[in-house]
Amino acid sequence: MAEKRTGTKLSVVGAGAVGTSLAYAALIKGVASEVVLQDINAKKVHAEVLDLAHGSQFIPSARIDGSDDVAVTQGSDIVVISAGAKQQPGETRMDLANKTVGLMKKIIPPLVEQSPDAIFLMVTNPVDVTTLAALKISGLPENQVFGSGTVLDSSRLRWLVANEVQLAMGNVHTLVCGEHGDTEIPLWSSASIGGIPIDDWERQTGQLGKAVRDDIAHRVVHAAYEVIEGKGATNYAIGLSGTRIIEAILRNEHRVLPVSGMLDNWHGISGVCMSVPRVVERRGVGDALELPLSDEEYKGLKASADHIREVAGSLGF
Ligand code: LAC
Repeated sequence: MAEKRTGTKLSVVGAGAVGTSLAYAALIKGVASEVVLQDINAKKVHAEVLDLAHGSQFIPSARIDGSDDVAVTQGSDIVVISAGAKQQPGETRMDLANKTVGLMKKIIPPLVEQSPDAIFLMVTNPVDVTTLAALKISGLPENQVFGSGTVLDSSRLRWLVANEVQLAMGNVHTLVCGEHGDTEIPLWSSASIGGIPIDDWERQTGQLGKAVRDDIAHRVVHAAYEVIEGKGATNYAIGLSGTRIIEAILRNEHRVLPVSGMLDNWHGISGVCMSVPRVVERRGVGDALELPLSDEEYKGLKASADHIREVAGSLGF
């Protein structure tokens, strides 16, 4: 008799630095009752599963499994896609688009066959192009396929701003939107600190003037390059960001997060996947919220959308 499954199943496709860090974070935070790793490298995935499972005593209880066989993902509630080529020092995320899209054409259909009702969370870069491609390849509804987008970039921004003003990160509300990449835009005009709009904050304290904001924005956009230069990949922060999104889905939080999903007339932008604040809940990605934008921010986001559209278009999406 087939075992009746209860609880929640998270499958992570790609047992590289990002996939394994995400699985590790998800296990420590106890977000799912079953965590599965799948990778074409059987030896590597076996070793990663063993290493994670050996720590089971010290984390919330969860079943840990993995295989090179895609059948291990069957019946997932969430499938995270982190498989793909690694960004080399000096390479942009967009440089990976061609290879990544080819890979998605291969891996997405069998994964959808195993878990047609799963939410597909795309992490592989360039994540906005990957998300658009996965959406088209899978034929799944738009709520079911979305990308981790600029959740991580927004966290980087909050961290830098919080350090600048010496306050807790939870008191800093700032978003990065647009491409998860070189054309992303920090939305200063809607930023606030402890409920105080950032321009008022600047007037009161003299902190976060234009030069400082520009420097912080530059550091956010170049953050991943800096990490890749030093250690060859980014993994912990993207693992935690992905886990935060998974929590919002599985706990049906209706949490506003800057994730990459299909846009339909968001401030007039349509037909492209990029990050804007959206409601994340059990059915996946929901409404895109229109927040006030300065003219400069609007122009920047439009250019970002055009850039993603151009790369995706050149690959037939
Ligand atoms: C980063 C990778 C995940 O920004 O794109 O760290």
